[in-house]
Amino acid sequence: MGLDISLTVNGQPVRRSVSAQRLLITLLREDLGLTGTHPGCDTAQCGACTVLLDGAAVKSCNVLAVQADGAAVTTIEGLATEGGPLHPMQRAFGQHHALQCGYCTPGMVMRAVAMEREGVPAEPDAVCHALAGNLCRCTGYHGIVNATCQGLREMRGATP
Ligand code: FES
Ligand code: FES
Repeated sequence: MGLDISLTVNGQPVRRSVSAQRLLITLLREDLGLTGTHPGCDTAQCGACTVLLDGAAVKSCNVLAVQADGAAVTTIEGLATEGGPLHPMQRAFGQHHALQCGYCTPGMVMRAVAMEREGVPAEPDAVCHALAGNLCRCTGYHGIVNATCQGLREMRGATP
């Protein structure tokens, strides 16, 4: 028997009946078609599946859908509207060439966005430390760190 949950995903109300074991990543990808959230390791190590849960970065492979009941979830698709301007963090990733194959990128961007609320300083050492739970198998960390620093500065009001 399913459990009824209601949550907000990218600003849209969502109601579903889910099994107790259903993962948040599965709800997002398979039930809602939000495939920008990537599965990587399925063991909470790579960060490719990172989304915001009430503003905090979580690894959606490690969160049950029922744990998101009543919460607001933001995925990479929710950072910008179609045809609208990119989120400053997305723009910074583009400007710094902070992606190669792009597989880790949605998780990296969501983790980077969450750093603003956490008060992570926009400087490389602090950003490296905060990014420790997100892996890039293309090893493009230099650009990712620089992009995150720029994105954080812009989110805090600096002009690009
Ligand atoms: S797939 Fe979730 S942390 Fe790797
Ligand atoms: S850009 Fe390929 S895994 Fe990070």
